[in-house]
Amino acid sequence: MIDGYGRTINYLRLSVTELCNLRCRYCMPEEGVCKLRHDQMLTEDEMIRAVRAAASLGMNKVRITGGEPLVKPNILSICRRVAAVRGITETVLTTNATRLAAFARSLREAGIRRVNVSLDTLNPERYAFITRRGVLAEALQGIEAALDAGFDKVKINAVLIGGFNDDEVPDLAALTRRWPVDVRFIELMPMPGDTLFGEHAYISADKALAMLPDAVPVPEHDGVARLYRLPGAQGNIGLISPLSNHFCAECNRLRLTADGHLKPCLHSRDEISVKGMTEEEMAEAMRRAVAMKPKQHDPLSCSERSRAARQMNQIGG
Ligand code: GTP
Ligand code: 5AD
Ligand code: SF4
Repeated sequence: MIDGYGRTINYLRLSVTELCNLRCRYCMPEEGVCKLRHDQMLTEDEMIRAVRAAASLGMNKVRITGGEPLVKPNILSICRRVAAVRGITETVLTTNATRLAAFARSLREAGIRRVNVSLDTLNPERYAFITRRGVLAEALQGIEAALDAGFDKVKINAVLIGGFNDDEVPDLAALTRRWPVDVRFIELMPMPGDTLFGEHAYISADKALAMLPDAVPVPEHDGVARLYRLPGAQGNIGLISPLSNHFCAECNRLRLTADGHLKPCLHSRDEISVKGMTEEEMAEAMRRAVAMKPKQHDPLSCSERSRAARQMNQIGG
């Protein structure tokens, strides 16, 4: 599908749950989420119907997100069914990896081609702090299990937070030497209601790059990331800069939340519900959502928060 600004929309981010076993401070409140009623969430059949509708419009890539997708009891069935939809050639998943050791092989067998893993620090105390409960060793075991399971690629996402992990940029980047992974540094996006992080917390992607003097640009294109590489590394460094250099001109995605709302843009309030619709009705709703995609989102900065009406765990990143 082509939108009003000539962008090809081929990528659906499907959030399968708002729940998570962690509570990352930039993503969700300590008390978790007020559990939505079961009948407000998309059923597995509705998710598959939505993916079929997306495929009927020419979309070929689905990223399964959350919350944390691996807390969803029927996650393997969802993955298997999404990957089997005709026209979907790339089914991928984003996870915090703490349960990945138990799931990696089955996810691979279910048809997941790649996984992206969230990991903001290599220090166990800091990990427990930022996730409010996580155990670093579990996430590292999950990453190693993913590498053993033979995914086409494993990427690590680290959100840059001044005063928290800005001194770890070189160590996190060095993971590309230890493992065949890409490590991507993401500028912290100020979400509504989230006032935990002030001016000092915002670290630009360029500032992170300046901490990696050996990194050389890689001319390849990789979605939202600008790529670099360290000498002797097995994977790339990616910079994702939603604040300093937004990538809206290349936006290729639609989002579907776990409670059945299409989001034309991550940072807009606009939503269209597809709950209870037939496949044809969902396809029509997706056409409308694509037509509603803005040229770019409103500016984001410490003083200009996202206009999204949801926290990140309710969107799926
Ligand atoms: P690939 O398929 O590997 O390219 O994954 P991805 O980067 O699309 O997905 P992932 O779930 O790993 O997201 C990485 C980061 O990019 C997260 O912090 C997302 O919130 C952010 N991100 C993804 N899509 C968008 C977008 O459309 N706009 C903005 N501003 N940020 C986005
Ligand atoms: N800013 C930037 N990235 C975020 N993520 C979650 N919340 C934010 C935020 N406020 C990242 C997670 C995960 C990805 C899907 O989104 O770290 O890797
Ligand atoms: Fe859970 Fe991911 Fe949000 Fe952390 S960023 S609380 S791991 S959904």
